[in-house]
Amino acid sequence: MTKSNFVQNEFTKSQNKYGEETIIVHGGISPDPTNGAIMTPIHLSSNFKMNRIGEDKGYDYSRTGNPTRSVLQKHLAQLEHGHYCTTHATGMASATAVAHILNPGDHIIISEDCYGGVFRLFSEIVAPRGVEVSFLDLRNLDLVQNSIKENTRCIWAESPTNPLLRLVDIAGLADISNANSIWLLVDNTFASPILQKPLDLGAHIVLHSLTKYINGHSDVLGGAVITRDTNLAERIDYVTNALGIGSSPFDSWMILRGSKTLKVRYLQQQRTAIKVAKFLEGHEKVERVIFPGLPSHPDYDLAARQQSGPGAMIGFEVTGGKQGAFQTVENVELCTLAESLGCVATLIEVPAFQSHASMTIEARLQAGINDGLIRLSIGLESVEDIIQDLNTALGKIQVTKKQIQHEFA
Ligand SMILES: Cc1ncc(COP(=O)(O)O)c(C=O)c1O
Repeated sequence: MTKSNFVQNEFTKSQNKYGEETIIVHGGISPDPTNGAIMTPIHLSSNFKMNRIGEDKGYDYSRTGNPTRSVLQKHLAQLEHGHYCTTHATGMASATAVAHILNPGDHIIISEDCYGGVFRLFSEIVAPRGVEVSFLDLRNLDLVQNSIKENTRCIWAESPTNPLLRLVDIAGLADISNANSIWLLVDNTFASPILQKPLDLGAHIVLHSLTKYINGHSDVLGGAVITRDTNLAERIDYVTNALGIGSSPFDSWMILRGSKTLKVRYLQQQRTAIKVAKFLEGHEKVERVIFPGLPSHPDYDLAARQQSGPGAMIGFEVTGGKQGAFQTVENVELCTLAESLGCVATLIEVPAFQSHASMTIEARLQAGINDGLIRLSIGLESVEDIIQDLNTALGKIQVTKKQIQHEFA
């Protein structure tokens, strides 16, 4: 085990003592003991002085461990009710770290409508190196159970998924993984720890793209892997150092800064999302709205049970399929046509041509991500302005019903 990247969290003590809002501001963070600085310093030093060979002050080289990164790791472990956290340069670097604890001959089961980059990593990079990969609909617990083999090591779930916002029964999947002695990983990027804490529901690993809600300001990339399992944490930490993919001191500091407002941001974005989803559902040019807070969502009951709210991501399809979708996203003025999600500004995109373009067409259609699906990540602008912007863009769609029938045939 590398000594300094590996941060054991004092969660068990603080959990009972403090509420979530307090942990978000203070968890794992304390004033600098040497000068009292309230905010964590950015330790840009790449290396650290040793007292003598084999004796240092906890750090020797910043690829292995860095004091600013350590604070972020403690902080995130507390937020997710974990015991250990390792942070990475991007969410995909976190996925890469997990992929590297699998060996050739191992089998992994992954959500079929996972983030396109995760699909690409496992289908194009990991599978050709000898790991068997199955992409499945994880809502079907019988299918999951029946797909587990001797060599299965991990179930990789997203809930809600990107971009279809499907939910999986995390506790149900945890039962299956425990019965088969395999790990359950939940990518909690969309829900964030504000809506659900997968480790409390039985998951063994939580993964985050910190680039999204946790940092929240579209100005840094990052990823995290959080667990309560000492063995897993040691292995993740080992590959992180070996691959050289840990988060930089500056990025770690940026994410620490952003995460302190996570809850207020998330709850406000969610309030707006509920109103926008209702508006879209009532609009004549909108064919379908995908939002776990609407009774029309197939996983509405599970969302109410498993999450503390529906979140702030919305999917929708408009009259005219792909053509109508392009017209909508190209006619908005306030909402920004851009990839990514979870930041202060409202973002709109067409996953088939942007965030999920790295999936094969067959895999995309099999997962149900069609060409006309629009993904909306609600920001902190005023709800009236967002609705007015969407209303204007939808009003400019010029296609007939005939075309949409043709598109989706
Ligand atoms: C659910 C999910 N997981 C992982 C990632 C990868 O994160 P990053 O872009 O920070 O590498 C993304 C990126 O969009 C994502 O949406």
